[in-house]
Amino acid sequence: MFRNADQQSRQDSKSIFTRRESGVRSYARTFPAIFTRAVGTEIWDGDGRRYLDFLAGAGSLNYGHNDPPLKEALLSYVEGDGIAHSLDLHTSAKQRFLETFDSTILRPEGLDYVVQFTGPTGTNAIEAALKLVRKFTGRTNVIGFTNGFHGVTMGALSLTTNPHFRNASGLPAQGATSLPYDGYFGPGVDTMDYIERLVGSPCSGIDKPAAFFVETIQGEGGLTAAGIGWLQRLAAFCRSQEILLVVDDIQAGCGRSGRFFSFTEAGITPDIVTLSKSLSGLGLPLAVVLMKRECDIWKPGEHNGTFRGNNHAFVTATAALNQYWSDGRFASEIMEKASHLDERLHEIAGKYPQAMPQVRGRGMMKGLLFAEPDEAAAVCALAYREGLIIERSGPRDEVVKFLMPLNTPPEQLDEGLDIIGWAVDTVIGSPGGRTTARRARKSPVRPRPTPLHVAHTSRATRH
Ligand SMILES: Cc1ncc(COP(=O)(O)O)c(C=O)c1O
Repeated sequence: MFRNADQQSRQDSKSIFTRRESGVRSYARTFPAIFTRAVGTEIWDGDGRRYLDFLAGAGSLNYGHNDPPLKEALLSYVEGDGIAHSLDLHTSAKQRFLETFDSTILRPEGLDYVVQFTGPTGTNAIEAALKLVRKFTGRTNVIGFTNGFHGVTMGALSLTTNPHFRNASGLPAQGATSLPYDGYFGPGVDTMDYIERLVGSPCSGIDKPAAFFVETIQGEGGLTAAGIGWLQRLAAFCRSQEILLVVDDIQAGCGRSGRFFSFTEAGITPDIVTLSKSLSGLGLPLAVVLMKRECDIWKPGEHNGTFRGNNHAFVTATAALNQYWSDGRFASEIMEKASHLDERLHEIAGKYPQAMPQVRGRGMMKGLLFAEPDEAAAVCALAYREGLIIERSGPRDEVVKFLMPLNTPPEQLDEGLDIIGWAVDTVIGSPGGRTTARRARKSPVRPRPTPLHVAHTSRATRH
């Protein structure tokens, strides 16, 4: 078979990943195309094939790829020789970011948080928050929740429950206690009853914690959303016991729930908040710890890092705040879109009450829970073949996870949901659907001009 030079070089460069890149790579195994450009919710591979991106950087692209106002702000900053790296020196880019964050988010929300710039990823923010709560309270133990995910560095791992990540560290993940998240025992059991009794009584065997670390919606844990009443009860309990409340808003924040912060709807004020992922808006690394003023007991440089404060990310984050959060319009758009998403997912799930697909989550952070992980895998594999990139989460990878950019145009949202509806019909609705689910990863259901390799990796090899 003859190939032109372009095709040949693409083929060669494909193999460089298997030859030279570590086996730790994960998403690339599920979506093996070589992607070249992206705009909004659309992404193209080197063969010119278009996909819809409902994975969106696992929540890092809430405003889509290369959103024009953010991209233009960055291009003009770089063109003007704006400072790229500055450790934690004052720069005009950081100044503008802090001023804009103050005026568009903190003041309107009535929050008087101090901002700590940590190393640029989510797990860096969690490490800093862990140190801070221990330093502040003088206690060691921290509480996390079942199916929680907070990153994979050593401290964060103590709060991340999935054994796949914990076991990779070679050391026991210590210093945290895991307690049941809302709904862990199913409806009818309020886990706050259990938590209050255990943590509030002296001889339960649980050391009084420095803090609770909670995700209001568990992204990696399977799109379970904590109830508003449960969050309020947790916050009140923390206050009554002088235990700090840390909301990890790394995935659920920056608009995903419908408000900038995912805890706003519950009317609670955490002592500490971690943010990263979509904070920069353009997918550039940036992470912060927000803390109540009295919690800011750091000594200068006590927690540091070379990449604290990424000026390019400050520029795009500022542009994102100005573009999307200077009034309430974007939040209303998100809520409208979220209710459409909810309706469509219920329609899809409602067709198969016996097979038990269920809709989970809150706002634009939704999941479709399947009885069998194989079914969720087959749905995602079929969707990929139809040009939709969408992943799974949950303890058994049994939840199809919808994290499309928040500004996805309605027709692209429906296009993606149509593909999911078709894939669910194919996997569950067809006679022998379970068999189809098992086979879908190997054999194409619909012939395509360019057959794609669709081997789906398990959760065990992702993230
Ligand atoms: C809630 C939450 N916290 C922390 C992290 C870790 O962030 P990173 O992967 O940037 O270290 C993640 C990543 O998915 C997350 O979802």
